[in-house]
Amino acid sequence: MDIYAVKGGKKLKGEVPISGAKNAALPIIVASLLAEGRTVLKNVPDLMDIKTIIKVIECLGAKTEFDAAGNTLTIDVQSICNVELPYDLVKTMRASVYVMGPLLARCGEADVSLPGGCAIGERPVDIHLSGFEAMGTGIEIEHGFIKARTSGLKGAHFAMRKISVGATANLMMGAVLAKGATTLENCAMEPDIVDLGDFLNKMGARIDGLGTERITIEGVKKLNPITYSVMPDRIEAGTYLIAGAITRGAVTIRHAVPEHIRALIVTLREMGFIVEEGADFVSIRPGKKLSGTMVRTLPYPGFPTDLQAPLMALMTTLPGLSVIIETIFENRFTHAAELRRMGADITLEGNTAVVRGVKKLTSATVMMSDLRAGAGLLLAALAAKNGSEIRRIYHSDRGYEKLDQKLKAIGADIKRVKGGKP
Ligand code: EPZ
Repeated sequence: MDIYAVKGGKKLKGEVPISGAKNAALPIIVASLLAEGRTVLKNVPDLMDIKTIIKVIECLGAKTEFDAAGNTLTIDVQSICNVELPYDLVKTMRASVYVMGPLLARCGEADVSLPGGCAIGERPVDIHLSGFEAMGTGIEIEHGFIKARTSGLKGAHFAMRKISVGATANLMMGAVLAKGATTLENCAMEPDIVDLGDFLNKMGARIDGLGTERITIEGVKKLNPITYSVMPDRIEAGTYLIAGAITRGAVTIRHAVPEHIRALIVTLREMGFIVEEGADFVSIRPGKKLSGTMVRTLPYPGFPTDLQAPLMALMTTLPGLSVIIETIFENRFTHAAELRRMGADITLEGNTAVVRGVKKLTSATVMMSDLRAGAGLLLAALAAKNGSEIRRIYHSDRGYEKLDQKLKAIGADIKRVKGGKP
């Protein structure tokens, strides 16, 4: 297994181009199953999760061609020849469950392996399932599979018991071809959902209220394949801003949407960093006086749980006390123990982390436990003097395109070592 060998302590300086958003691209790729013909997606990041979702739609009958260097994915859907998604694909990536919406809309049946828990929490899919039930689907769980059957999805009024990005996307994909009108309440307002909705509308869907808590969808008979460009990745953008902050460097992210990372920008300014922004860029450099702060993760437009680990790494280097309350996932502090091994002072109590800034982080061998926890450790290694070794970097391959190359380009001393030997 490859590792990252990082020699920290260098101030990062320069510009980082931001890639297409993983969490927008995943449902958009699946949504292309809704239209017969050739869909062309641009700005698709070259990531392991994207390769997995390509396998998923191929397993259902789509033909694909991914020009990874050009970030362009061509998807040709004639007929859907299979409605069963096996355990091996779903266990590799939970977002595979997104196929339920398009399969039910187009074929009236879906047999999808039920995702189990994962490193960051239990992550049930009950809201997805009750939403499809409300739209006229019978659902049984048998032998580890969700078996869903409908004689035709019908428009419905459905209020989600909790805000869920995945359920909002999945139900929207079902409702666009359902008979009649659907109203979804307590919807996720994440930009990724808006991007999926814009894609569907451009295909001929009739969705209103995107980016608000109430989305209404008038079902249509048919959608048409189109060419579409995926929005920039706000979590990647935030991660590189924090990389600038933790090394006290001067970093500018390009091709980003500042509004999508407003909660992070506000937090970084509170900490004393100077953050400047334009139409599609954000720059960061340290101010005269830096200090810790308090953050609560929340659904968008609140502070994103996906930036919590990188932010915690930054907090360990700031004078004074910081507090993080994680409200989205019940087990998303696995990076804390690894950060402690680098000299961080972090106390956990339930869903609260109290971080006392230390004078310096020290290098160590650490292990990624998931994608964003991994990003937090890598950032800490960039701030720690001397050489750290980061293992299980297949986690970061899932969601950060050209991670080492982009960091090297702004002055980081990072090497990807094949087979784990520096
Ligand atoms: C999406 O996951 C993202 N994944 C996650 O990013 C992100 O952390 C998360 O949203 C929150 O922003 C993708 O977009 C592919 P949820 P998702 O449904 O859709 C509970 C990353 O690192 N819930 O909004 O699975 C759930 O357990 C990943 O890129 C139910 O109880 O998240 C959680 O506590 C990790 N029942 C909360 O809701 C359900 O049926 C929010 O989950 C669905 C969710």
